[in-house]
Amino acid sequence: MTVKTLGISTSPRIQGNSDLLLREALAGAESTGAHVEYIHLSDYNIAPCIECNACYTTGTCTIQDDFQKLLTKILDADRLIFATPIFFMNVCAQAKMFIDRSQCLWAYKYVLKKQVITPERDRRAMVIAIGGSKSKKQFESIRLTMKSYFDVLDINYSFNLFINNVDDLGEIHKHPSALKEAFRLGKELITIKSPPPQKPVNVELT
Ligand SMILES: Cc1cc2nc3c(=O)[nH]c(=O)nc-3n(C[C@H](O)[C@H](O)[C@H](O)COP(=O)(O)O)c2cc1C
Repeated sequence: MTVKTLGISTSPRIQGNSDLLLREALAGAESTGAHVEYIHLSDYNIAPCIECNACYTTGTCTIQDDFQKLLTKILDADRLIFATPIFFMNVCAQAKMFIDRSQCLWAYKYVLKKQVITPERDRRAMVIAIGGSKSKKQFESIRLTMKSYFDVLDINYSFNLFINNVDDLGEIHKHPSALKEAFRLGKELITIKSPPPQKPVNVELT
């Protein structure tokens, strides 16, 4: 069975560091025979959640934009690779706006008590996050945000690739191992045979 792998690049920078890492991770996944799809979030029109709470009764979002199209792809995927630059210690605004729109899934699951994904599906996710500063504390807020997002998506949080101290556009090309690690983890996300981990495997590079 072909493993459907979706990569979401949330950086506003074209060919930004997180974007380049995501492309490598997808190349790693593709090298195993997985079907990969790359999405650059800035190409889509996504409005922020307005907390109208209509989803508490319907389980769907009333805002009509590109979110619905992307949600279908996310729910259909067997593997998800989510890449973000670190902005003010967390995911970037574009990523956060997109994540917040999943409140309708949260309502579907926890308010309406309906099943988002059938339990027999093996869905796994990986996060790529990169910051320019020397701080590693910021990885903690990424972990918290992405854990609550993946819980709502019913997808196992399997891997983190966190990198700091890389700032300039395309600077990741000069890093001795980051692109190789992205490729390796993208591959492993597909080929891994062990049961989904309780906590994500962390790879942190400076
Ligand atoms: C608005 C803004 C906020 C930022 N905040 C942080 C931060 O809190 N921590 C950090 O390490 N880097 C921060 N940076 C630097 C970026 O994370 C860094 O340049 C990164 O390599 C960008 O990734 P990209 O090329 O994938 O967009 C910030 C950059 C901007 C523009």
